[in-house]
Amino acid sequence: MGLIRNCSFLLYGTKHFGKSGFARAAASWDNSVMERRLEGKVVMVTGANQGLGFEAAQELARRGATLYMVCRNAQRGEEAVQKVRQATGNQDVHLQVCDVSSLASVDSLVREWEVAGRPLHVLVNNAGILVHEYSLSPDGHESCFATHTLGSFALTTALGPLLARSAPSRVIFVSSGGMYTAPLEVKHAGNEDLAGRRYDGMLAYSRDKRRQVALAERLAERWAGQGVGVYSMHPGWATTEGVKKSIPGFYSFYRDSFRDVAQGADTIVWLALQDMASLQPGAFYLDRTTQPKHLPLAGTQYGSAAVDSLWAALERMVEGKVKPVQLAAA
Ligand SMILES: NC(=O)c1ccc[n+]([C@@H]2O[C@H](COP(=O)([O-])OP(=O)(O)OC[C@H]3O[C@@H](n4cnc5c(N)ncnc54)[C@H](OP(=O)(O)O)[C@@H]3O)[C@@H](O)[C@H]2O)c1
Repeated sequence: MGLIRNCSFLLYGTKHFGKSGFARAAASWDNSVMERRLEGKVVMVTGANQGLGFEAAQELARRGATLYMVCRNAQRGEEAVQKVRQATGNQDVHLQVCDVSSLASVDSLVREWEVAGRPLHVLVNNAGILVHEYSLSPDGHESCFATHTLGSFALTTALGPLLARSAPSRVIFVSSGGMYTAPLEVKHAGNEDLAGRRYDGMLAYSRDKRRQVALAERLAERWAGQGVGVYSMHPGWATTEGVKKSIPGFYSFYRDSFRDVAQGADTIVWLALQDMASLQPGAFYLDRTTQPKHLPLAGTQYGSAAVDSLWAALERMVEGKVKPVQLAAA
């Protein structure tokens, strides 16, 4: 099954995920949406100091958003904030230091937003890693899981009341086409049992990207009546420092086909700007279009019971560590 899945992914990816896939899709776009402005809208982008997160943040700032760039390293974050201010002329751009893989750090961010009482209209869960060495987060969870799944779950659910009060608002999960190669794995959510097994960073990454798609689906269902839209997306294969470092072999083989960072960030920006009535809650997007969540014969389908189990496992991990934002009476 794994072989079929991977072949299917490579065939599909070669056709759609590179710059030629972007160009084909872009040929029929109406770009007027991209001219919309975001003055008065508060936007948070995680993992914003480089790569796709930086690019998306910059484009959202260019359109007048009040922007919070969530970065785990204060110096890299401050440099990124200054770059965005300079490039866009928007001075309403701020650094939010937070390691999304740490529940204490996520809780600090949430507490700060609670005190500030500011709204939140767009949350982009972009922070991501792909590492080949097994490592643990400050809470003792496998780092890839702690960053993509647990961190984005904790941050999004804790900020949920704020998103609902700021509605219409939206959450964008920057997942990956890599999720096509993984079914929804609940069993290993959290502290993976590695006894006797070698850590497979690519597999861990694909599983977490699948989990993000499932979480977006579930959050979209839960928040449907509250004016909070939740979407997941794949940027395509875009040249970033992260890609060069984490998958150098794949990158050097396919580099001529890779899209640039602006093309990779395009759908993030578009999802932030498009009318919510035209977007499909819980859908998985690539190049401004909803995509299938499973490839033919890949055997990755799952039922809602699996998502229930994942949700319950995540709630247990977060319980007492990240408290939802408490809103003062309006
Ligand atoms: N580029 C692609 O082709 C591609 C394809 C599919 C999906 N994606 C997804 O797109 C997202 C961005 O990837 P990228 O290619 O732009 O990678 P990147 O260049 O490595 O950027 C990742 C960003 O996330 C930050 N980050 C990582 N862990 C964090 C944490 N615990 N807390 C806060 N920030 C953290 C990094 O900060 P530091 O500088 O401190 O490390 C960096 O700013 C990821 O979710 C990735 O999985 C990318």
